[in-house]
Amino acid sequence: MLKIREIQKTDLPLIRKWRNHDRKWFYDQAIITEEMQNKWYEKYIADDSDILFIAEAGDGNPIGMYGLTNIDHDMKAAEAGRLLIGEKQYTGMGLGVDMMRSVLEFAFKELSLNEVHADVQAVNPRAIIVHVKAGYRIVGFQSDWMGNRVCFSIHQHLRIGAS
Ligand SMILES: CC(C)(COP(=O)(O)OP(=O)(O)OC[C@H]1O[C@@H](n2cnc3c(N)ncnc32)[C@H](O)[C@@H]1OP(=O)(O)O)[C@@H](O)C(=O)NCCC(=O)NCCS
Repeated sequence: MLKIREIQKTDLPLIRKWRNHDRKWFYDQAIITEEMQNKWYEKYIADDSDILFIAEAGDGNPIGMYGLTNIDHDMKAAEAGRLLIGEKQYTGMGLGVDMMRSVLEFAFKELSLNEVHADVQAVNPRAIIVHVKAGYRIVGFQSDWMGNRVCFSIHQHLRIGAS
């Protein structure tokens, strides 16, 4: 059973390792240094519109991350991203979808949001498949300096199993 919790400062070296290893799937593909990450974390803890979760496997080991950014309580909306299973022995088991569903439950139940958006690179089939399996619908396509992207959205009342 997967559990999610907000990141802590002690997670930084691990998530930097994950992110640098898989950086080709992110818009900012630069290698992140310890100094850059510390600056990012200072901003992160002061910013209420951004929450990044670590997913822990049943044995308590951190295996991946997924987060919400641009959380807008007036619009009841946010963007989701930074999806990553960093411990590769845990891929191919459906845990990406579990992690996404847990974070979306938090968005809809704890934050009372109505809608979450996510953009995925069109060349990333695994990410596209897990978004569809997690209940997102394709709402458009974008093509610009960031490349070709599939735009997804999930609405709390339209998701599968919504009560
Ligand atoms: C995206 C990610 C979290 C999904 O991990 P996961 O939950 O273990 O998902 P899987 O690896 O099982 O892949 C999901 C689906 O894609 C399919 N898939 C895998 N590689 C594929 C490929 N090259 N082409 C087409 N489909 C592929 C799998 O068969 C699976 O489908 P299934 O469940 O119907 O069998 C993980 O791949 C990851 O960390 N990727 C690197 C970072 C990344 O791309 N992040 C997304 C940024 S938007």
